[in-house]
Amino acid sequence: MSKIIIEGGQRLEGVVRVQGAKNAVLPILAATVINGGKNIIRDCPRLKDVKSSIDILKGLGCNVTWEGSTIIVDSENISTHHVPESLMREMRSSIMFLGAIVARCRKASISMPGGCELGPRPIDLHLKAFRQLGIKVDESHGYINCEVDDIKPDNIHLDFPSVGATENIMLVTVLSKGVTTINNAAKEPEIVDLQDYLNKMGAKISGAGTSVITIEGVDRLHNVEHCVIPDRIVASSFLAATAAAGGHVTLTNVVPEHIHPVVSVLKDCGFEVSSQADTVTIKAESRPLPINYIRTLPHPGFPTDAQAPIMSVLSVADGTSIIAENMFENRYKHVAELNRMGADIKVDGRIAVVKGVKRLSGTKVAATDLRGAAALIIAGLNAEGTTEVSGLCHLDRGYENFDEGLRALGANIKRID
Ligand code: UD1
Repeated sequence: MSKIIIEGGQRLEGVVRVQGAKNAVLPILAATVINGGKNIIRDCPRLKDVKSSIDILKGLGCNVTWEGSTIIVDSENISTHHVPESLMREMRSSIMFLGAIVARCRKASISMPGGCELGPRPIDLHLKAFRQLGIKVDESHGYINCEVDDIKPDNIHLDFPSVGATENIMLVTVLSKGVTTINNAAKEPEIVDLQDYLNKMGAKISGAGTSVITIEGVDRLHNVEHCVIPDRIVASSFLAATAAAGGHVTLTNVVPEHIHPVVSVLKDCGFEVSSQADTVTIKAESRPLPINYIRTLPHPGFPTDAQAPIMSVLSVADGTSIIAENMFENRYKHVAELNRMGADIKVDGRIAVVKGVKRLSGTKVAATDLRGAAALIIAGLNAEGTTEVSGLCHLDRGYENFDEGLRALGANIKRID
């Protein structure tokens, strides 16, 4: 069984480059299906979820190569519109392929996503919008089957600014005849990156990053080359790691405005954080101050994906902090493991009360989801003695060599596979 072993108590010092964004590259890989041509995507992180997307693309008949951090997808020949359960099971967020395949083939058949480690993963908003666009949607025998002759562009209102639903609507309408608007669209930076990607292949989309996105359908698309944006959650995780361990670290390949909500919290914790064009530096010389109230919200609110890493920081704050998790119901699974490390955290529904302790203590802990895995490693950097983190399959879904990055900054950390 793979594990990461950390001897806590080492300060972090130095410079680390942040990987390309997982949540940007996944919808972009789905988008490669649409143009029926060549797609060159740079700065793709080596992650399990990226590999799962590539397996889906290959299953559809695309020719895919992945060399270094560049993925090349040739989608000229698509041989099926069907994604079997075995490929969907690997990654729940592959629902974005539904919009991309319908855009390309006018029909799609995709295994229904089930629950995931964050709880149920409903797609009702995706399907409601598809139906509004005139797509026939049938859910039976564990599959979602979609069919349409001509997509009927419309004015869509999302009841909640879902990231996946916003992306799926953008993908499915790219090649339609007419103008679709998405109101109450999600505003995450990864949606802006998807808009940039699609526009580079000839789409006419505007408004991403605001709550109204307009998609003017086009007749055809062409080859495209693109470099994905930096991963704001990985950047936030390195900042949290430095805050928990103490130290002075500069991150490169960052868009500072993408991590404002997390930087703002770290400043309230008493840390010095400064940013330049594409770097961010944190100096952490003292125990964190507690935070009155953090609530996870859609962007530009505090990101749910940074909740677990920041909780590790607050678990050693000089006082009590309160967190409200508003996005996913099952996102406190790291709490029991942090408490095994000496943290004092109580959860009641969506609320976590984090009573800071002076220092955590190392023990064996198991990760059960992606960001929880990062949180346990961050906690281990602070802890006295040895921390062993298992469940690394979760970490590998979203972090490319997190342990190597931390080791380069001076952490006493090793991975055993
Ligand atoms: C994306 C991110 C994920 C992040 C999340 C919220 C990717 C690959 N994943 O996930 O890392 O944590 O955004 O920032 O980009 N919902 C519904 N019905 C729907 C769709 C969503 O009720 O049809 C609910 C979800 O259950 C959840 C909330 O809306 O409670 C947010 O989900 P959504 O924004 O869609 O997140 P994802 O796209 O799944």
